[in-house]
Amino acid sequence: MKAIAVLGSTGSIGTQTLEIAEEFPQRFRVVAITAGRNLDRVVEQILRHRPEVVALAEADLVGELRERQLQLEPERRPDPLPELLGGRDGLCTAAAWPSADLVVTGIVGCAGLLPTLAAIRAGKDLALANKETLIAAGPVVLPELRRSGSRLLPADSEHSALFQCLQGTPEAESARLSTGEPTPGLRRLLLTASGGAFRDWPPEDLAKATVADATSHPNWSMGPKITVDSATLMNKGLEVIEAHHLFGLDYDAIEILIHPQSIVHSLVELADTSVLAQLGWPDMKLPLLYCLSWPERLDTPWRRLDLAEVGQLTFRRPDRGRYPCMDLAYAAGRAGGTMPAVLNAANEEAVALFLREEVHFLDIPRLIERVCERHRVDHRSDPCLEEVLAVDGWARTATREESRRLHPAATPALPR
Ligand SMILES: NC(=O)c1ccc[n+]([C@@H]2O[C@H](COP(=O)([O-])OP(=O)(O)OC[C@H]3O[C@@H](n4cnc5c(N)ncnc54)[C@H](OP(=O)(O)O)[C@@H]3O)[C@@H](O)[C@H]2O)c1
Repeated sequence: MKAIAVLGSTGSIGTQTLEIAEEFPQRFRVVAITAGRNLDRVVEQILRHRPEVVALAEADLVGELRERQLQLEPERRPDPLPELLGGRDGLCTAAAWPSADLVVTGIVGCAGLLPTLAAIRAGKDLALANKETLIAAGPVVLPELRRSGSRLLPADSEHSALFQCLQGTPEAESARLSTGEPTPGLRRLLLTASGGAFRDWPPEDLAKATVADATSHPNWSMGPKITVDSATLMNKGLEVIEAHHLFGLDYDAIEILIHPQSIVHSLVELADTSVLAQLGWPDMKLPLLYCLSWPERLDTPWRRLDLAEVGQLTFRRPDRGRYPCMDLAYAAGRAGGTMPAVLNAANEEAVALFLREEVHFLDIPRLIERVCERHRVDHRSDPCLEEVLAVDGWARTATREESRRLHPAATPALPR
C-alpha cells in the first residue's frame, strides 16, 4: 500500500489523483491533502479519503473548516478527525508528512515551490504536475533532489510519455528521476502539442479572443490557467524548459510538434535515429496512475486505445508567428538562471489579468516580453532560493506596471 499526499487536491490534477486512489483502494491510501479555498470540496474529500492531515493555503479558512467538520453528523464524521493546518508553513508540513511515500504536486503556479521543496527535503518521491516549480527554480530544485535522493516522476502527459519511452533501455537509469545530467543515447525530444483553443483560428481573429474562447480546450479538461497556457502555447514552452531539466538535453535538441489529435503524447529519438512514442487517449489519469504505480503497471478497466477509431494521426511544425510565447520560453530557458522564473511569474500574472478581463489575449506575450527584457540587467546565472522568490515577486509587480502602460484607462475595451 502506497501512502500519498496530494497537494492541490481540489483542482483538476488533485481530483483525478483522488479518483485513482478510490479506484485502487488496495494500492493507494491518501494521508495528506492541501487546497486553496474550495472548502466544499475539501469536506467531501475528508469524508471520502479520511486523510491524516489537511492544509489550506488560506490560514483564515482553517477555523471555518474546523466548524464544518464538527457540524457533520457523528456517524459520518471521521474518527480521528484530520489535523488541520493553514498558510505556507501548513502546506509545507503536509507536503513533508511523515507517513507519505509519494507527493503529487497539483498546486497551480509558483505557489507550489515551497511545499515541493519541503517534500524533497523530507526525501519524498514526487509526482510532478506543478511544472512551474521546476521551471522557476530549476537551479535550486535540482541540487536539492540530488542531495535528498528524492525521485521526480513526471506527471505531465508529455514528460510521462518521454519517461515511459525510455523505460527498459539503459538510458532509463539516468533519464529517470531528474539528475539534470544528459541521458546517454538520447538525441532528441519531440514534445507534442494539441495547438490549444485557437489552433484553427485565423491569426487576425486572435485579437477578439474572449476568456470563454481561451478556456475551451479542444482535447483536455484542465484548470483555467493551464488551458490559457495551451492556447498561447506557453504551456509547451514551459514544458520545453521542464524537459531540459528532466532529461538534460540542450534546447536545440527539444522540439515542439503540433499534433491536433493528442494521441501521441511525445516521442524520443535515440542515437541510431530510432524514434519511440507513447500513445493513449488524452486523459491525465494515465500519466498520473503511472506515477503512482511506477515501476509497476496496474491492470485497469479503462477504455482501450482504438487506432482505427482515431483514423488519422497528423503532425505539423508550430507557426512561430501565431504562438510568440513559444520563442519567449526558449529564449528564457537558454538564458537560464533567474530568467525562467521571470518568464513564469510574468506569464502567471498576465494570464490572471486576462482571466479577470483586464488585458487582451494578445497582450499576454507582449507583457511577458517586456518584463523579460527589463530583467536582463538584473539577471543572475546561479540563483539561490531567496533570489528566485525575489525575482518572482518583482516580475509580478512589473507585469502589472506594464499592463497599466498598455492600458492607461482602467478597463480596456475587451471583446465579449
Ligand atoms: N490539469 C491538467 O490536466 C494538468 C496537466 C499537466 C500539468 N498540470 C499542472 O498541474 C498543476 C495544477 O493544474 P490544475 O489544472 O490541476 O489546476 P487547478 O484545477 O486550477 O487546481 C489548482 C489547485 O491548486 C490550489 N491552489 C490555488 N492557488 C493556490 C495557492 N496559492 N496555494 C496553494 N494551493 C493553491 C487550488 O485550490 P482551490 O481550488 O481549493 O482554491 C487547486 O487545488 C499546474 O501546475 C499545471 O500546469 C495540469
